[in-house]
Amino acid sequence: MNTPSTRTRDGAGTEWWREAVIYQIYPRSFADSDGDGIGDLPGVVDRLDDLVALGIDAIWLSPFYPSPQADAGYDVADYRDVDPIFGRLTDADRLIAEAHRRGLRVIVDLVPNHTSSAHPWFVEALGAEPGSAARDRYVFRDGRGQHGDRPPNSWRSVFGGPAWTRTDNPDGTPGQWYLHLFDAGQPDLNWDSEQVRDEFVAILRFWLDRGVDGFRVDVAHGLVKQADLADWHYPEETTSGDHVDQPRPPMWDQDGVHEIYRQWRSVLDEHPGQQILVAEAWVQPAERLAAYVRPDEMHQAFNFEYLEAAWTSDAQRTVIERSLAATDKVGAPTTWVLSNHDVLRHATRLALPIGAARPRGIGANDPQPDTALGLRRARAATLLMLALPGSAYLYQGEELGLPEHTTLPDEVRQDPTWRRTDHTERGRDGCRVPIPWEADSPSYGFGPTDASWLPQPPVWAEYALDRQRDVPGSTYELYRTALRLRRDLGLGAGRLRWLESPEDVLACCVDEVTVVTNFGAEPVSLPPGTEPLIASGPLNGSGRVPTDVTVWARQRVR
Ligand code: NOJ
Ligand code: MG
Repeated sequence: MNTPSTRTRDGAGTEWWREAVIYQIYPRSFADSDGDGIGDLPGVVDRLDDLVALGIDAIWLSPFYPSPQADAGYDVADYRDVDPIFGRLTDADRLIAEAHRRGLRVIVDLVPNHTSSAHPWFVEALGAEPGSAARDRYVFRDGRGQHGDRPPNSWRSVFGGPAWTRTDNPDGTPGQWYLHLFDAGQPDLNWDSEQVRDEFVAILRFWLDRGVDGFRVDVAHGLVKQADLADWHYPEETTSGDHVDQPRPPMWDQDGVHEIYRQWRSVLDEHPGQQILVAEAWVQPAERLAAYVRPDEMHQAFNFEYLEAAWTSDAQRTVIERSLAATDKVGAPTTWVLSNHDVLRHATRLALPIGAARPRGIGANDPQPDTALGLRRARAATLLMLALPGSAYLYQGEELGLPEHTTLPDEVRQDPTWRRTDHTERGRDGCRVPIPWEADSPSYGFGPTDASWLPQPPVWAEYALDRQRDVPGSTYELYRTALRLRRDLGLGAGRLRWLESPEDVLACCVDEVTVVTNFGAEPVSLPPGTEPLIASGPLNGSGRVPTDVTVWARQRVR
């Protein structure tokens, strides 16, 4: 028997973002035009035709703004320019124009929780008196203890270590402390400050006027802190994973953030066109996350609960059902995402023991995941994801089936996590390695030279785009075909109904398409009367769906 989901078709087809497939470009690792080993904006322009061929609707670019690169550009020193390593402002303009010419939309990254410590505001604050207007744009406090030499509260940085750093007074004596939920080079802004609020509205307008189609909002759940900055003794990751039973932490998901996004929404609504706001908010449960996408707030929020769901039919069905129900209630589309620049690539993650906590990086001395198993599951997961109603996010390189680089030499690591955890957590460099385009070119076609800011493993040759293009069965062709079918069949705007299925099998219909993923040990048959349209791996001899394979099927036509 079929159980209809609560999915509605409201707005489908009229608002591009409701069903868009959005491809994340991590500029420093996508394409390098000048051979310095760091990807750049002209490099992106040169590869736009390849993205059109893949069949995506939009690109989202991680930050390319002037920055000391303490956190790979998520430490912004100037929100209205381009860092010379990535090009110039005119390159951003050209990229937007060239993308639009090809029918691709462009989303940029907005980093409002913190600036770089090199931002002129922070430099000014350091030189100013405690209690001054310049300090009030950030979160400065006196330390605890008689000499103020203990941090103002117990908060920890997401990257490890205390979330506070002590400053020196202009005369060299120790001074106040400032808050940084991330690296010390990323001081948190004070969102009670009118100046901070006005500045970000002006930044939104600056990029809207340059023609962008939206903003991915970094740490959207962090801007407002509980006013008393109360101590917190639970782990800081409490808003993700299995920690929904704990009280809400004083630094995350405070109700006050929503007012900010309502203001931003009105700024976007005043602007002609359909620009969007996308929340990067590690917030659970799904109902709390859905508050970010109420009709007068953001348009989308990344569904990290989906990314973190275990590879079992139960966990997948539960998270899909919950996500659709929560966003339906507020009239927003669900987003689906499996990889990004902050997590282990899903081709590697899915090879880890099922249900295990997601590790923060893997090193050469750790147990090495089974690449073939990971890829098999990743292909099945992706094909399932691309059938689901709503909007999907892809991370550069996943269309090649790229695994995490799990044997990077520790001495090349750049993620501040590695340093700040005293070399206990390896961090995110393994998913940020420059991607391969051509097997036999220098840096596998990443750039014109061998230079690459993180070393590429020799196995990258096998994954290069030119080894997969037009090769039946390749991961790249799987993505390309799935994206074409998804578009032709309107799956993103579809309606999902669950089908009854054996244990360990997930089966549903999205409009006319039947989707079956087999998580169990035994092959399963497709529903009677259907025939396969596309499969994430070879079917067995009798046309049955093997373990860790997803199939899209349709009614057999006779
Ligand atoms: C989330 C970004 O995706 C991540 O890369 C960054 O380190 C933090 N926010 C801090 O900006
Ligand atoms: Mg370059």
